[in-house]
Amino acid sequence: MLTQADFFIADIPIHSRLILAPMDGISDAAFRLLTRRLGSAYSVSEFINTLDYANQKNYQKKRLLARDEERPFVAQLLDNDAVRMAECAARIEEEFQPDMIDINMGCAAKSVAGRGAGVGMMRNPQLVKDAVALVSRAVKVPVTVKMRIGRDSTTQNFLEIANLAAENGAKALALHGRTGRISYQKPAQWQPIAELKRAFPQVPVIGNGDVSTPADARRMLEETGCDAVMIGRAAKANPWIFSWRDRDEVSIQEVAETTLWQLKDMLATNPENAIMPFRKYLKAYLEPYQLPRETMRTLLTCSDANELLTLLNYTFTKLGASIE
Ligand SMILES: Cc1cc2nc3c(=O)[nH]c(=O)nc-3n(C[C@H](O)[C@H](O)[C@H](O)COP(=O)(O)O)c2cc1C
Repeated sequence: MLTQADFFIADIPIHSRLILAPMDGISDAAFRLLTRRLGSAYSVSEFINTLDYANQKNYQKKRLLARDEERPFVAQLLDNDAVRMAECAARIEEEFQPDMIDINMGCAAKSVAGRGAGVGMMRNPQLVKDAVALVSRAVKVPVTVKMRIGRDSTTQNFLEIANLAAENGAKALALHGRTGRISYQKPAQWQPIAELKRAFPQVPVIGNGDVSTPADARRMLEETGCDAVMIGRAAKANPWIFSWRDRDEVSIQEVAETTLWQLKDMLATNPENAIMPFRKYLKAYLEPYQLPRETMRTLLTCSDANELLTLLNYTFTKLGASIE
């Protein structure tokens, strides 16, 4: 059924105002497909370090594998070299056919920001200009950026950076309401998101930071006027948020089906390394049921796929789900 688009990025219709945020180690292929099916508007890859990509590191290529059902699929690039980013963007477009390319101007890890990549780019307006212009010229698909308020509290230059990005071809602007120096313990600021939308009424603005419930998402949309909301950490425990549901509105049956599907899909998409990364979702999904510590320990230390599936069937049946 064709529904009316909520908004457009360039000529791509976007159907939903909630989007799974890119998260290294979390937004893998299985989790992205799961959240897309639950209502996330589109999928963004974990960051692709184009320095590693250029050096043929296979693990970066793996992060670009996406199913058609995930489309629109966005490949997110991270680097401090505009020419290399543009060259890799062209190769990625040819090999993986993403629907958009996003430039990461938000990663605050010291090893990244320190070399002028991620949020480090925000200190270097020329690099922002070059990266957006060269990447936009190198690919046919729309280019977007994801940034923070600024590098630190003394340089909150998101409006200047947004301006340079938009002037040089960026078709959407995502803003995480923190500077690169503010920890997750401090609340995100939403006022800058409102300022950004006021300054760029014609460009889609995606607000991000501390949205944990559907009520938060509604509040961010209303208070800031942003076009969509990106949800990161809260999605790990509640991927159902993308269908505008609080975690306590989700039945054990659905939790069981989702969990089992996700494990099987992770085994199919990443057979060598599925169980370890699966544990973080499992822990988060089971948290509300306060299972005995010993049960959790058994589940979270099991490293055999078939054994884990059997244990999960048993656990979910005991919690009231019916497993086929
Ligand atoms: C574990 C983790 C990994 C992340 N990896 C990325 C990434 O690869 N690219 C990116 O743009 N942001 C990344 N982020 C930032 C998130 O996309 C998001 O901007 C941030 O978590 C704030 O949103 P939230 O409050 O909804 O979590 C990451 C965040 C976390 C917690």
